[in-house]
Amino acid sequence: MSTLDLPATGDPRPFAGYAALTAQAIRERTWAAKRALGDRVVILGHHYQRESIIEFADFRGVKLSQLAAGQERAETIVFCGVHFMAESADILRRPHQTVVLPDLKAGCSMADMAVIEDVEEAWDRLTAAHGDGIVPVTYMNSTAALKAFCGARGGVVCTSSNAAAVLAWAWARGTRVFFFPDQHLGRNTAYAMGVPLAHMAEWDFRAEDLNAANAACLRDETRIILWRGFCSVHTKFTAQQIREARAADPKVRVLVHPECPFEVVQAADLAGSTEFIIDQVRRAEAGSSWAIGTEIHLVHRLSLEHPDQHIRSLQKNVCPCATMNRIDPAHLLWTLENLAEGHTVNPIRVPEPVKRDARTALDRMLALKGTGEIARGAMAKD
Ligand code: 13P
Ligand code: SF4
Repeated sequence: MSTLDLPATGDPRPFAGYAALTAQAIRERTWAAKRALGDRVVILGHHYQRESIIEFADFRGVKLSQLAAGQERAETIVFCGVHFMAESADILRRPHQTVVLPDLKAGCSMADMAVIEDVEEAWDRLTAAHGDGIVPVTYMNSTAALKAFCGARGGVVCTSSNAAAVLAWAWARGTRVFFFPDQHLGRNTAYAMGVPLAHMAEWDFRAEDLNAANAACLRDETRIILWRGFCSVHTKFTAQQIREARAADPKVRVLVHPECPFEVVQAADLAGSTEFIIDQVRRAEAGSSWAIGTEIHLVHRLSLEHPDQHIRSLQKNVCPCATMNRIDPAHLLWTLENLAEGHTVNPIRVPEPVKRDARTALDRMLALKGTGEIARGAMAKD
C-alpha cells in the first residue's frame, strides 16, 4: 500500500486531496514519508518558513544551496523556500541530484521586478552612455537569467552578507556598478562603504521614456546604478516605527535587514543580513530588548529560541512573506509522498546555457574570501 493508503496508479498523486487533510494527519504522514525516504531526500528550510515546515528541515539557513550539494547521498533536494533559491540549488547541485519546489507559486516579488528583457534594455542604454567599465552585480534574490546575464558580462552575484566584499570586487574591475534588483541593499551597502548618495542613481524600469527618466544614471559621476526594485516585506518598515519603539522602550535596540529603506537602516542601531541578525541576538545577554525589522517568522522563532530576551517585530501586525508562505505542510506532504512513490513533482530545471553563465557569476562570488559584511552598527557602534 502507498503512504497515501491508496493503490499506486503509476501517475503522480494530484494535490487536490491534500488541501482537506487535518494538520495532525499531515504532520504524521509527513514524518512517515520522510522516514521512508531516509537520506535519499534532503529537506531545506529557509529562515522565513513557518514552524510547521522548519520542523522537517534537515538544514535551515541561507547558504542552503551549497549545503545541499554537499549531501552526496541525497538524490532529491526539497527546497522549502522560493523559486530563485531552488534555481540556485539547481545550478550548484551535483549531477545526480534533482531540486524540487513544493509549490511552484512560491516566487519572489522582488525577483519578479527585474525581468531579463528590461535589464538588457537598461544595459544597452547604460553602455551606450558610459562605454565599457560597468560591472553588473545581481543580488542572490534574482532569476537564474539575471545571474547568467552577470556571468556573461564579467559580473557577479552577491548575498546580503557579502554585498560589500562583492561591490569592492566590482569597483576594482570597473568604474561603475549596475546593481539589481534590490535598490535598498545596493544603496545601504554602497553608503556604508563611503559612496555618497549624490553618486548613486536609481534606474526606473517602468518609465515610458527611459533615457529621460533615468538621466541621473547616465551622468559621469554616478558610481552605482540601482535598479528600482524592493522587497515587499522589508519595505514596510519605517523610521516612524523606530521612533515609536524607542518611545515605548528607551532600552530597545533596533536591528534591521539591509533590504529595508535607507532612512530605516540609518535610524536603526544595527543593520545586517539574516545571519547577522541571528548572530546579534544569539550573542546578546539575558534581558536584552530588541525591535527587529525582518520577516515575521524569523522574528517569532528568535523570540521562541531566546525566551530570556524581549524580542518583537519593529512593525505591529506585520505580514509574512506571502510567497515564502506558499510552501505549506500540505504541499510538503504531497511532494514527499509522491517522491516515496517514485514521482518527482515540481522539479526545477535551469536550462543548460543559463546554468553555465549563472554558475560563472556564482563561482566569482564563492571565490571571494571572507563575507566582508559591512553591517551598520557592527561597524559604527558595537
Ligand atoms: P538573506 O536571507 O540573504 O538575508 O535574504 C533575505 C531574504 O529576503 C530572503 O528572501
Ligand atoms: Fe522576496 Fe522579500 Fe519574500 Fe525574500 S522576503 S522572498 S526578497 S519578497
